[in-house]
Amino acid sequence: MEATAGQAGKTKFQIDLRRYLREDGEDEQLIHLICEIAEASKYIINSIRTGDLGVAGTSNLYGEQQLALDVLSDRILRKRLAQSGVVSNVVSEETADIVFIAPHRTGNFSVAYDPLDGSSLVDVNLAVGTIVSIYRGCDLMQPGTKQVAALYILYGPRTTLVYTTGHGVHEFGMNQLMEYTLLRRNVRMEPKASIYAPGGLRSLYTPGTGKFVRQLESNGVKLRYSGGLVPDFNQILMKGKGVFFYPHLQNAPQGKLRLLFELNPMAFLMEQAGGAASNGRQRILDLVPQKFDERSPFFCGCRDDVAMAEACIREEG
Ligand code: AHG
Ligand code: MN
Ligand code: MN
Repeated sequence: MEATAGQAGKTKFQIDLRRYLREDGEDEQLIHLICEIAEASKYIINSIRTGDLGVAGTSNLYGEQQLALDVLSDRILRKRLAQSGVVSNVVSEETADIVFIAPHRTGNFSVAYDPLDGSSLVDVNLAVGTIVSIYRGCDLMQPGTKQVAALYILYGPRTTLVYTTGHGVHEFGMNQLMEYTLLRRNVRMEPKASIYAPGGLRSLYTPGTGKFVRQLESNGVKLRYSGGLVPDFNQILMKGKGVFFYPHLQNAPQGKLRLLFELNPMAFLMEQAGGAASNGRQRILDLVPQKFDERSPFFCGCRDDVAMAEACIREEG
């Protein structure tokens, strides 16, 4: 069915994010919050395209040098969340602790986010993203099963927003008016991978992960890795056939990726698409965070391949 141009630039059959959320029966406050995050992404896009790529001269809690873009993106998103009127507390990869916006305000949301994941890839012009995890209430130290929404925005050749509120996974693309309109509803995973994205140094893999990689390769699964969690994850989700992992390493038993604002949102999205997400031994979403900056090993994608990873790790560690 040919879509015809309706209002300037907006084709007749384009469903925008707010309308889709409404038709999906989401509550108005959550719709407002998700749309505010979508709005903030426009300013993050602008800072990526034109902003200062230098260092901010500061480092985050993880000892990672903060780029000007990290700090700027964090400021853009945090300001938007604070002014939304529906957020109690926030925590981000760039904050040194949980930031209390309006803790007295019950019945609101708390948000954990990575304002610019893979920021060091911007200066080599590779894709990067924003990752967001949303809980109801004031407590950010809940297991991932308690999330009410998770989303990422991928700043690639196209800008796309992928979200779930627990009713499937839906993809939106930014049009020429910078509006997010529906591209795909109910994105689904197949049981077996055709690509794999292996994070971390291969020489530091434990025997179990090494065995997993050999099994993938013997099954003819091809390596596809950019070093950016959001584009690497998105490729697997949109193709429906893949597995991403950043495993426990001999010198880093908890791996690298952070539970609250990288792994829980990605795990929620992957499970909602019919995939799986594990720390190698148990479901990511069941992990109860002990500290807000907790890391975890991560195996995520097609169910059969995540199960294979868990079997290899059970057998060989
Ligand atoms: P961030 O830039 O937010 O610190 O996260 C980068 C992460 C993630 O994007 C990617 O999967 C991982 O770092 C890659 O880590 P290595 O460079 O150690 O492979
Ligand atoms: Mn990150
Ligand atoms: Mn980051």
